[in-house]
Amino acid sequence: MMQETKKKFYVTTPIYYINDVPHIGHAYTTIGADVLARFKRMDGWDVFFLTGTDEHGQKIEKAAKERGLTPQQLTDQIVVRFQEAWKKLGITYSRFIRTTEISHKRAAQMFFEKVFKNQFIYKGHYEGWYCLPDEKFLLPSEVINEKCPDCGRPVERLKEENYFFSMSKFQNALTQYLEEHPEFVQPLSRKNELVNNFIKPGLTDVCITRSSVQWGIAAPVPEKSILYVWFDALINYLSGIGWPDDLETFHRYWPADVHLIGKDILRFHATLWPAMLLAAEIPLPKKVFGTGFITMNGQKMSKSLGNVIDPLAIADQYSPDALRYFLLREIPFGVDGDFSMESFQLRFNGDLANDLGNLIHRSLSMLERYFDGVIPENPNPSPAETELKTLATQYATQARLQIEEMAFPAILTLIWTLVKRANKYIEDSAPWKVAADSAQRARLQTILYTLMEVLRVVALALAPFMPFTAESIWSQLGFSDSIFNHGLEETEEWAKIPSGQKISKKNPLFPRIDRS
Ligand code: MSP
Repeated sequence: MMQETKKKFYVTTPIYYINDVPHIGHAYTTIGADVLARFKRMDGWDVFFLTGTDEHGQKIEKAAKERGLTPQQLTDQIVVRFQEAWKKLGITYSRFIRTTEISHKRAAQMFFEKVFKNQFIYKGHYEGWYCLPDEKFLLPSEVINEKCPDCGRPVERLKEENYFFSMSKFQNALTQYLEEHPEFVQPLSRKNELVNNFIKPGLTDVCITRSSVQWGIAAPVPEKSILYVWFDALINYLSGIGWPDDLETFHRYWPADVHLIGKDILRFHATLWPAMLLAAEIPLPKKVFGTGFITMNGQKMSKSLGNVIDPLAIADQYSPDALRYFLLREIPFGVDGDFSMESFQLRFNGDLANDLGNLIHRSLSMLERYFDGVIPENPNPSPAETELKTLATQYATQARLQIEEMAFPAILTLIWTLVKRANKYIEDSAPWKVAADSAQRARLQTILYTLMEVLRVVALALAPFMPFTAESIWSQLGFSDSIFNHGLEETEEWAKIPSGQKISKKNPLFPRIDRS
């Protein structure tokens, strides 16, 4: 496909604070974004996938101090942990942005200057509450017993001379935008909450510089102060694709198609961010999607409870794809969900070991046994084969619709319908019986050919979700190139696997977990 004719798709994750190592919540949003990016790429789109780290702010300044490091030393150490984690989990970002990069710092300063020039920034005094863990200014009415209404932790009192962004001036424009673009904030339940709780009561001006914090981007003002970490951080979505220096790349990808974020930061993305963009005369992103939160055995994860799940330990023990599969299959994107070892192992043994693993292993074993590992011809398909063909070749049309809704469990269910149907086909057609009768050699060929075709389509369909597994199925089927050279449209065609190709079976991909 020619570059110019490709449709573009720009997806982002939050940039994560690096006062600590990555946990499963960070992995969750990042895996979701990776699936979108991989799916669209395989479907022929020109994709830009941005992730990175939010390296400034009081929280990081404090964490560095506690460890006897400079903030830069701390961020340099922890950023590697994020990059390694994403590599292990198969995350295919186009760019990893660090807000300490010079290009980002310059972009943030230029953005400030533009908004200042447009007269939406003024100088004032801030006296009030601040939640350090959330890096958030709070109104007096929001604070109860000196605790943050969102995270419940103690707030601190601030008194600073700062610059303010006139967010209140965008009350009407934002209300109108949300009315005209009902798809802007998703899922809908979160949008309603946002409108009723934060927009309708009235947007208030926001402090966008800090004079009592040192670690940050110097604000382009005469006084010594830095940019408020959220003002700096949101601009990553622009600087990450070249704004303001590489406008060609910027215009190729902006506006973002979706900012994927957790529900905790929806308010920043659906009020402050669009207001900042309106003030800077930059078009708004198309969609902001707030995922739910993951709990551990029904409890909120926290360091003090000692129940924070390390995604890498699970990936090491069971495989990165098993973790990707569990998170996307078990928890509908957009609502809260729970992680427990029990439910993880149930999915692993049921869906992965039993359904998928068995289908792959049994099919390839029979092909080795009956045809010396060489894919046969496909002489006489019967209605049973036609049914599998229809299920397989209709997958892409349905999956393309579901991906727009981030309906990952629904897409995986579609793939599993095919997997389970193929397992039933093995039982019904009983190749071991057919093999015993030499007069039925052609029938045996058709059965094994059909199974190889199902595996080809399953591998392609799974590729965005379980990239390591898909690549392994692909090479076991005897293909010598990478599955990622192939497109989703290849699932829409049938009888594509070449007869005569030699397979190369490996050990089962998902050996059952012994739960005794
Ligand atoms: N640095 C800001 C984001 C700036 S974006 C311009 C920030 N960082 S964070 O490290 O706190 O990460 C927040 C994101 O991590 C959440 O929005 C969410 O996507 C993810 N999660 C963190 N904990 C989570 C769970 N327990 N469950 C699911 N996702 C969660 O806020």
